[in-house]
Amino acid sequence: MKKYQFILVPVLILALMTNVKLIGQNRTIEEKVDSLLAIMTLEEKIGQMNQYNGFWEVTGPAPEEGDAKQKYEHLKKGLVGSVLNVKGVDEVRKLQELVVSESRLGIPLIFGYDVIHGHRTMAPIPLGESASWDLKAIEKSARVAAIEASSVGLNWTFAPMVDISRDARWGRVMEGAGEDPFLGSKIGIARVKGFQGDDVSAYNTIAACAKHFAGYGFSESGKDYNTVDVGTSTLYNIIFPPFKAIVDHDVKTVMNSFNILNGIPATGNSFLQRDVLKEKWAFDGFIISDWGSGFEMIAHGFAKDLKHVAELAANAGSDMDMESSAYVKHLKTVVEEGKVDIRKIDDAVRRILKVKYELGLFDDPYRYCNEKRESELIGHKDHHDAVLEMAKKSIVLLKNEGQLLPLAKNQKRIAVIGALAADKNSPLGSWRADAIENSAISVLEGLEKYSKNITYAKGADVITGSATFINELTINKTDRSGFQEAITLAKTSEKVILVLGEHGFQSGEGRSQVNLDLPGVQQELLEEIYKVNQNIVLVLMNGRPLTIPWAEEHIPTILETWHLGNQSGNAIAQVLFGDYNPSGKLPMTFPRNVGQVPIYYNYFNTGRPGPIDLVFWAHYTDEKNDPLYPFGHGLSYTEFEYTNLQIDASDNNVIKVGVTVKNIGKVTGEEVAQLYIRDKVASVVRPVKELKGFEKFSLEPNESKHVEFTLTSKELGFYDQEGNFIVESGTFDVMIGTSSQKGLTGSFERQ
Ligand code: GLC
Repeated sequence: MKKYQFILVPVLILALMTNVKLIGQNRTIEEKVDSLLAIMTLEEKIGQMNQYNGFWEVTGPAPEEGDAKQKYEHLKKGLVGSVLNVKGVDEVRKLQELVVSESRLGIPLIFGYDVIHGHRTMAPIPLGESASWDLKAIEKSARVAAIEASSVGLNWTFAPMVDISRDARWGRVMEGAGEDPFLGSKIGIARVKGFQGDDVSAYNTIAACAKHFAGYGFSESGKDYNTVDVGTSTLYNIIFPPFKAIVDHDVKTVMNSFNILNGIPATGNSFLQRDVLKEKWAFDGFIISDWGSGFEMIAHGFAKDLKHVAELAANAGSDMDMESSAYVKHLKTVVEEGKVDIRKIDDAVRRILKVKYELGLFDDPYRYCNEKRESELIGHKDHHDAVLEMAKKSIVLLKNEGQLLPLAKNQKRIAVIGALAADKNSPLGSWRADAIENSAISVLEGLEKYSKNITYAKGADVITGSATFINELTINKTDRSGFQEAITLAKTSEKVILVLGEHGFQSGEGRSQVNLDLPGVQQELLEEIYKVNQNIVLVLMNGRPLTIPWAEEHIPTILETWHLGNQSGNAIAQVLFGDYNPSGKLPMTFPRNVGQVPIYYNYFNTGRPGPIDLVFWAHYTDEKNDPLYPFGHGLSYTEFEYTNLQIDASDNNVIKVGVTVKNIGKVTGEEVAQLYIRDKVASVVRPVKELKGFEKFSLEPNESKHVEFTLTSKELGFYDQEGNFIVESGTFDVMIGTSSQKGLTGSFERQ
């Protein structure tokens, strides 16, 4: 407690009033915020709008100014509202004590961190988790991440990333939920529920952050940080829905994005931040900028200098400035010059203080600092069990001809080939928070728990040299020295498990590629092994869809395993040996050729869908239109039969669509029945297919289940050119099936 000079009673009362802990104990949060705001100076208000990076980790260009010393001074003066990349009870407590005891009002800091798919115990990358279509498992995974993050003093994660993307060249597809707004919305809600729980003030829940608002996933040519130029229909019907869905589910913060939208950088975009988010959607949390995205408005050619950045960003509704120092340096001046109305500052600060109150930080700034929890919860066995379940459910069986899988438990002479098979680091994926390097169970380790008949040969490295979150990688394009050993092993083996794909840091931020083929010499290795043994199970380990047409044509069995986190090897081994029947479905289309990208299932028909005998229709002369694997595709060790499609459109407002699904195979399996619609004629053209429902369930052999979906205006409507949600009458096609390309079809008239 600050040592007040008890000189005069009025000073004492003022002193008591200025200690935030004593302000109106039994008043509403809004009342407390207003009381606090009333006694804050302009500098202190601006301080709340300023976020600094911790003094040792950077997740963006390292700050050229603002050394640790200056940051400490600002912390003591209450000129910092939040820090990121500070973790660990000791570090958090040290900074919190500095601010709470040294600054005049003692307003606690909020500590943010990129807890994207786990904190210490890593779950599959989000694109992998999304392939599970299992909302409960995804929520549980986020819950585990929140428990671990909050146990080290953190109270805010910069997740979920809900950027829809159709472009696997963009490295950040690993971080999202794929190409579909309906699936992306449901998964976004599950992740927010997992992070924030039912009570965000609890010591084991954390505030979530919907990012990046908006359009970042549509970076042109898949190049990170590139221009975004999309039409109204795509903005409202594809990009916005996942953000709206989690704003409606009380996400506490939103992060804006690096890109421009309609020529205006998101951080300075009033249409996005004020008109849509804060007005139309009534978002009542706060907006954080992305790393230096305010400062980057100068490079965009939107701001003259940092002072202009402060003016533009504050007026546009960017509430907190991550690592630009624009607000802490210039916002006071531009307010005094009348360029930013103080009411906009007050609105931003109200939003920030509200979230801090909701997190319980004013009641107890050290609520998230408990050494005992930190030691007991980090890496807890229950967390590994949870991420193992998540990993198993995330695996997608792309192909299984000749039923090479599952392997018999007594399978003899199994060759395991590929550097990724022994790699304990790549499965952790990018955006790995506080993971311990090389802590993943490798595929080899997982398999060796099942069988002694395993022999390993590396074949070839994926990269040469070191790999970190921020350095450029060098792909191995020349070293084939391990080929012969691998070929010799394959020759003398009954089955070959070939683990190929991407290094864990080959996808993620700043990792855009023009090429989606198997990296380096891996395709050559695959073909050389195939020459001597065709009994190959190709296990893909990757952070994005890859173009593997040769493998699809030649290799009998292909398993998509993404980067599955700490329990990767155990999950893959349980699937390979049949202890878990794969149930994943692709959340993103796999192209045949990168030239098809962007490629997605919910495309528009165009005026020339073809095919016709002449060349004048929407197609390529050198590649098919169809993808290699469609959205929603995923096989099982059993087989599901869809029969008896029923459509009841008697009630115009609640159309019922049902189907019977039967397990006609020999083993129990989980299926994801998917419902798609097509609005045949509308005032704004509608996609040839739109996912509007799904259900994942398990069936024993010969067991049947009637699956029913309801279609209301919420599912049948769309946003028009003005951003108004409308529903029109007319003919709707429906399909219920096992993927976006396979199912029973019907139609109904909506009056
Ligand atoms: C990064 C990312 C953003 C992340 C932030 C803080 O540049 O764009 O997603 O949350 O900076 O690390």
